[in-house]
Amino acid sequence: MSVLAVRGARPLRRKPFAPWPQYSAEDLERLVRVVESRNWGGFPFPNTWAREFGARFAEMHGARYGVAVANGTLALQVALRAAGLRFGDEVIVPAYTWEGTAAAVLFEGGVPVFVDVREDTMCLDASLVEAAITERTRAIIPVHLAMRFADMDALAAIARRYKLVIIEDCAHAHGGRWRGRGAGSMGDLGCFSLQTSKLMTAGEGGVVITSDPRYHEAVQAYVNCGRVGETDDYGIRLVGGNFRITELQAALLIGQLERLGEQNALRRERAARLRAGLEKIPHVAPLEPDPDITEEVMYQYVFRFRPDQTPIHRDVFVRALEAEGIPCEGRFYESVPRSDLFPATAEQFPALAFGRAEPVDYRSVRCPVAERLAYEETVWLPHFLLLGSEEDIDDILAAIEKVATHLEELEGVDAGVKGVSRTGRSRLERDRAW
Ligand SMILES: Cc1ncc(COP(=O)(O)O)c(C=O)c1O
Repeated sequence: MSVLAVRGARPLRRKPFAPWPQYSAEDLERLVRVVESRNWGGFPFPNTWAREFGARFAEMHGARYGVAVANGTLALQVALRAAGLRFGDEVIVPAYTWEGTAAAVLFEGGVPVFVDVREDTMCLDASLVEAAITERTRAIIPVHLAMRFADMDALAAIARRYKLVIIEDCAHAHGGRWRGRGAGSMGDLGCFSLQTSKLMTAGEGGVVITSDPRYHEAVQAYVNCGRVGETDDYGIRLVGGNFRITELQAALLIGQLERLGEQNALRRERAARLRAGLEKIPHVAPLEPDPDITEEVMYQYVFRFRPDQTPIHRDVFVRALEAEGIPCEGRFYESVPRSDLFPATAEQFPALAFGRAEPVDYRSVRCPVAERLAYEETVWLPHFLLLGSEEDIDDILAAIEKVATHLEELEGVDAGVKGVSRTGRSRLERDRAW
């Protein structure tokens, strides 16, 4: 008789995990007050809660200024504009990230140039960056992916040498610190997403932080329809848009911010238990500890699947783990140049053909480390699994062990994912499960 739930047996975990997002009575009170004030929007800019949130969020990460915006993709777009990106400029991005990191560059008329990631940190490999720099390169967007950080000191040295702007994509790193410095404060600008799945959220939302007053003035103008911001020391006049966050969202974010430190500490505690357990289970391995991370945060808890001598694919393993009642994903991200969600052509984005004999063809771009991590090796567990009890962690470990010690039952099981790319099916399944 089969043991695994994917083969029809009883799932190991039959209770829900900690709910996400979380809110408090104070959040509800703040929201009611905003509703009653009838002052719901992002204008006047920055509105009351948005101003407070932006300032506190920036301070927490060690930056001088913070501007809350409508979402994380727009945060990147606004930062690129503020950094002076021009049509056809190239921006170096890691291949292993959410498609939005690269899409933001396209939306601003730039050309994303994909560079592979490191095996250990899964983040942009600084040793490969110089070879990707051309006369058109304007910026680098390192992404602090999952539980790790890009090597910001190595990247800063390259940026200084080639006069490039660094925009940190910190969508996974709220409250994180690397070599003592806060996420988003190490580059010229830092961008965060506040979308539902993130470590803190208002349903949607984003933040741009910087310590450079010129960038700050430019950011404010772009976000608020070109209007001059709170200071006008640099005389910045430009065409902006309405990328403001609403006051309803900002009111929610105050509570999210106040809970972040405590929640991150709990996640770390639970992650330590998970790590200790994973070390004892065959065919899986936790990430190596990284001594440069002074405050580790886990937007997703990532571990590696190592099939060793078995023919079982990571996607089948993940499907079996999900069937045991553990929310998880393998193809959480792809190698973006190969992704179905990144069918970038010069027709849609003329910058890809600008000044070139042939338009940029992403389908031919190969980033072997990103591909292996994305399509074969990583398993991603959402952070709210770490916000419950120790028993939750023990259930997760028991489910992983159950699957890992019965891989023979998975022979012939369909991965449920087509081709090399994430399909509508896997997305829909995840949305349902969460
Ligand atoms: C690494 C990364 N960059 C950018 C984004 C874009 O953020 P948003 O979904 O808020 O636009 C996300 C989130 O989805 C992300 O994970």
